[in-house]
Amino acid sequence: MSSVAPSPPQPSPAGGGGSDTPSPAQRGGGGTAANGTRAAAREGGSHAAKPLLAVENLVKHYPVRRGLILARQVGTVRAVDGVSFTLNRGETLALVGESGCGKSTTARLVLRLIEPSAGRVAIEGEDITSLSGAALRRLRRRAQIIFQDPYASLNPRLSVGDAIAEPMVVHGIGDAAARAARVRELLGLVGLAPYHADRYPHEFSGGQRQRIGIARALAVQPELVVCDEPVSALDVSIQAQVVNLLKELQLRFGLAYLFIAHDLAVVKHMADRVAVMYLGRIVEIAEKRALFAAPRHPYTRALLAAIPHPDPSRRGQVTPLGGDVPSPMAIPPGCRFHTRCPHAAELCRTQEPPALEIGPGHLAACHFAATLPPVAAAPGGGLSSLAAKRLALFAAGRPAA
Ligand SMILES: Nc1ncnc2c1ncn2[C@@H]1O[C@H](COP(=O)(O)OP(=O)(O)OP(=O)(O)O)[C@@H](O)[C@H]1O
Ligand code: SF4
Ligand SMILES: [Mg+2]
Repeated sequence: MSSVAPSPPQPSPAGGGGSDTPSPAQRGGGGTAANGTRAAAREGGSHAAKPLLAVENLVKHYPVRRGLILARQVGTVRAVDGVSFTLNRGETLALVGESGCGKSTTARLVLRLIEPSAGRVAIEGEDITSLSGAALRRLRRRAQIIFQDPYASLNPRLSVGDAIAEPMVVHGIGDAAARAARVRELLGLVGLAPYHADRYPHEFSGGQRQRIGIARALAVQPELVVCDEPVSALDVSIQAQVVNLLKELQLRFGLAYLFIAHDLAVVKHMADRVAVMYLGRIVEIAEKRALFAAPRHPYTRALLAAIPHPDPSRRGQVTPLGGDVPSPMAIPPGCRFHTRCPHAAELCRTQEPPALEIGPGHLAACHFAATLPPVAAAPGGGLSSLAAKRLALFAAGRPAA
């Protein structure tokens, strides 16, 4: 009888890094990231060990066509426009930014669910953008995704057991008995019961469905899990449970997470490093603590300032974001943030800023990142009292490291 390995990947090399846990990057394997070849070259030269995931100058442009019969191209959506970063084993890199900035497109490119227009995605040094056939299937096993809406991603006609077993069937793992045993094990890992295998998605709550989505993602023992807004659709108390489950599984199996989220309280709890995206590019990336305590890019500052702070003395240090995000079909020249930036100068309108290294692993794509006056760190690290309470809720249920 063929068998299914009884437990997911290698023992955790690291741990996910709670607020007091040094991240894998800090422990020495660390990746830094930024836009453009300069940063990519800097990265490539400075780290001996290969990161689990390395993304270099990734681009996804969508042509916009008009006309039914003789459709002609009338524009280009620059959804992802030159993104570079690395992710180490056992590490969580959070990807944040306003709606439409290219987070999900980046996630899909990383998993090769869509083809890039340019750039490179490497898993342990192997470029996956040219893989096909068996090699691509092997990659699919190593990298999985958890979606925001587990209901939409689960086939309503498949029982939960069949849904969790499906990736094992696709990858030819185990026979029916071994897969059934593994399904029971996975249900236990995510806090569900073996009898849930015979039920259907509509019989579960949102939080339970997300647990099913997590079990399904772990079924093929991935090393990398892309979490695309995994808790955004859930109630706050359920969010804490699911976030803590993800952390626990990360510690247990050494998973690397590319974690997409809007909610900075969730990001602060989950991430080791944070990458801030704006109009298809990463504009700042840093260790979580550095980013929350001393953000350098005006956009990052505005994102943090957009969370109202109850302490009046902390208000007004940063002008909150005004105006709308420009269309990715008409990205402004020079610094793409200049149309909304309170510090914009003439240089910003004409020259695209390079990624400046502000500190170890801290890069910001702003001409003035090194000279802008620092913003005092707000108590609670830039989070509102409500967000801080939610963070405490997450921390209360945090698994023992
Ligand atoms: N298939 C497509 N064709 C054309 N444009 C697309 C396509 N997919 C995404 N886009 C555009 O690319 C941009 C980035 O989309 P994406 O879904 O990556 O954003 P996001 O950061 O995940 O946003 P959200 O936070 O709302 O999920 C958006 O302007 C979107 O409309
Ligand atoms: S380069 Fe100029 S416009 Fe862009 S973020 Fe920096 S100060 Fe603002
Ligand atoms: Mg998205």
